[in-house]
Amino acid sequence: MQLGKLDERIHVMDASSNACSVIKDIAESGVQEEAFYVCDIGDIISKHKEWKIKMPRVQPYYAVKCNDSLTVIEVLAALGTCFDCASKAEIDRVLSVGVDPSHIIFANPAKPASHIRHAAAVGVDLMTFDSDCELYKVKTLFPTAKLVLRIRYDAAVAQCQLGNKFGCDPDSDAPRLMKLAQSLDLDIVGISFHVGSGCDDPPVFYKAISAARRLFDLGSALGFSMSLLDLGGGYPGNKGAQLDKIAEVVNSALGEFFPEPDVHIIAEPGRYYVASAYTLATNVHSKRDLINPRDGSITSVMYYVNDGVYGSFNCILYDHMKVTPVPLKDAGLEMRPCSVWGPTCDGLDQIVESTLLPELDIGDWLIFDNMGAYTLPVASPFNGFPVPKVHTVIDVQGWLLLKDRLPMTENHFVIGNTPANLHLGLSIDGQGNIDEWDEVHTPVSSSDDEIVEDHTSHSTVGSSIIYPFLQMGQVN
Ligand SMILES: Cc1ncc(COP(=O)(O)O)c(C=O)c1O
Repeated sequence: MQLGKLDERIHVMDASSNACSVIKDIAESGVQEEAFYVCDIGDIISKHKEWKIKMPRVQPYYAVKCNDSLTVIEVLAALGTCFDCASKAEIDRVLSVGVDPSHIIFANPAKPASHIRHAAAVGVDLMTFDSDCELYKVKTLFPTAKLVLRIRYDAAVAQCQLGNKFGCDPDSDAPRLMKLAQSLDLDIVGISFHVGSGCDDPPVFYKAISAARRLFDLGSALGFSMSLLDLGGGYPGNKGAQLDKIAEVVNSALGEFFPEPDVHIIAEPGRYYVASAYTLATNVHSKRDLINPRDGSITSVMYYVNDGVYGSFNCILYDHMKVTPVPLKDAGLEMRPCSVWGPTCDGLDQIVESTLLPELDIGDWLIFDNMGAYTLPVASPFNGFPVPKVHTVIDVQGWLLLKDRLPMTENHFVIGNTPANLHLGLSIDGQGNIDEWDEVHTPVSSSDDEIVEDHTSHSTVGSSIIYPFLQMGQVN
């Protein structure tokens, strides 16, 4: 990775800080107006540890589509995950950090020809399919590819169903496709499925794994060397969500249907790894009271913040996400009916239709948890509102774990999380380029002394520098 910009590095937090305190420090620095993220790498490390403990037989292949941050990819590569890529560009992104092509599955059952050619050129030979057409394409473009047949098994309840688009019928279609592959002299090595993203139906994994077993047996009878079972995605990623129920079903089904240790079991978690690691802070820049014409009372308040459905909150439209705004300030107990809107001129740009919040002023911050999955890769700067910048942090333990594990190096980190070395400021060009801050930096060092040295006290001036001239309140 090219580490030209200091603010792209991971900030090693001092012992008294955590992701929440960093959000507060940035918001209250007095120079921050734009929406921003804080990404806590410690959260990703914890998720990985949990996965290893709860599903030890299952090798995670992180689904890059979910959040294609280079830092996330590098951290996960350092932790030992492999990768699920859906396109040529995702493959290149993963390869660019030094991941071996054999650690990638090209898990898009319907691939453009040039992407298959590219996979062949760079040595990514493991790929999924679910149709005759894909088999003929692979026969022509990459006949030595190792093929994984994707079957359909839908969770009864899922945040995003995928079965309407991908996965062949395991009973009627799969045997036919396996026979076609055999007649084309192609190499099927395994079976995959995806029960749906945000699965709330753990028993579906049992049914899908048992169907995969039947197809393993058929494949072996047809002369294929069946060695890979891919459990796809569907694992929960939000704060407090438990992997336990799915893990219990998966482990017991694997024990029953795939007791042989030489079958390589993989999964493609995306949401699981990143959802809770990212917290988004948005700034209230405008508000409007809705007045009851009969008695002049305020019925509801419309709050406008500086990120919306064309930016991070595209997840509301595409990922069926329900988001919960939490005020950063310790507000009064009195709650008022309100709605929360994004910054663009489109009426569709609504984040929360109806909720209760304490009275907010211009310059106050609304915080949204669990914003790491299917947000940033899809966000656009529509209407000129920039996609929020990400400040990435890690605690000292996490830093010590990662700093010497390739592709991570000491250069990926910068010690300290003061507003100065977090590179705050008004991004006038929307790109986060603020030259005057370029001089401010703390050198990377592995010395423990320096980790604790950087305890510069943080400004608590709130938004008063940005909004010093606004007197909010009702005009009578
Ligand atoms: C093929 C494939 N694998 C993995 C994932 C990631 O799954 P999840 O969002 O459940 O983490 C997706 C999501 O769309 C997918 O299409």
